Amino acid sequence: MAQKRFLNKVAIVTGSSRGIGSAIASALAQEGAKIVLNGRDEERLIEQQTALQNKGAAAIYFKGDVSDAAQAQALIDFALQSFGQIDILINNVGISSRGYLATLHPSVVEQVFRSNVFGTIFPTQAALSALRQTKGSVVFISSLAAIHGLPGLSPYSASKMALTSFVESLRIEEHAHQVHIGHLQVAMTEIVHNKEVVAADGSKQVLAARQKGKVLTMQEVATDCLNLLAQRKFRNTQTLLGKMNRMLNSFSPLIVEFILRKNLHKFEENSK
Ligand SMILES: NC(=O)c1ccc[n+]([C@@H]2O[C@H](COP(=O)([O-])OP(=O)(O)OC[C@H]3O[C@@H](n4cnc5c(N)ncnc54)[C@H](OP(=O)(O)O)[C@@H]3O)[C@@H](O)[C@H]2O)c1
Repeated sequence: MAQKRFLNKVAIVTGSSRGIGSAIASALAQEGAKIVLNGRDEERLIEQQTALQNKGAAAIYFKGDVSDAAQAQALIDFALQSFGQIDILINNVGISSRGYLATLHPSVVEQVFRSNVFGTIFPTQAALSALRQTKGSVVFISSLAAIHGLPGLSPYSASKMALTSFVESLRIEEHAHQVHIGHLQVAMTEIVHNKEVVAADGSKQVLAARQKGKVLTMQEVATDCLNLLAQRKFRNTQTLLGKMNRMLNSFSPLIVEFILRKNLHKFEENSK
């Protein structure tokens, strides 16, 4: 029988109508958590809610853009009104763009920062007092792009690095309140769902499916997220390559830069 490490815990997962957020929400539901889904597209949210309910989970959804402070607050209020408490907040919302800075429309940078930075800080701020009451957890879904800035992903890398210092500040601030802060640096993950990124001109670009085997599955990311939560651990950098990157970067960022320059073609290939 599956473990139930999160039985009756109330978990909000931002950006959980599809992708990694939906895998984390499903895994939490499977282990007994009550789930508050979030996204901006109602059809996808209903589909995800129905899938969870069909498996016997308590799942509700809140349609809203968490990069807007009022909507982020409304998400937290909705969770509290519906379930009476919040034990877990997974800050999963994040978008990326494609293109070198010289080619980017300024709105692209703004869109990525708004979504990734404000879309993480606003729900966290709104949830803190409820999380202090339950001595709950906030987990930040980050990326290996937060270790060393990646070519073609400068706004994305910068936004995830901004969150690294946010997470570090918050961990010190919330220590006395026993709120657990987790930071999952996710490696490249499968794409099976027409994932959209922002193209250099600001339009939406649908990414090609990423082959299983070469990248992590969404379930593997969800498993690491749940283990971080259950063990109340601070940071997990996924994959051996990610861990080596982190170590090498703290020792010599110039060596990492040299390796990245030698592998530019791989980044261009993965951007399609
Ligand atoms: N995929 C990877 O290879 C990878 C690697 C490293 C890190 N990550 C990180 O993992 C997280 C999830 O990535 P993913 O690939 O699963 O993304 P995704 O497939 O694009 O899914 C994003 C989810 O967030 C929702 N969303 C986006 N902006 C939102 C907003 N402002 N307010 C509310 N909901 C919003 C989307 O639904 P709507 O569009 O309907 O709102 C969707 O449910 C991100 O933080 C990403 O940076 C991903």
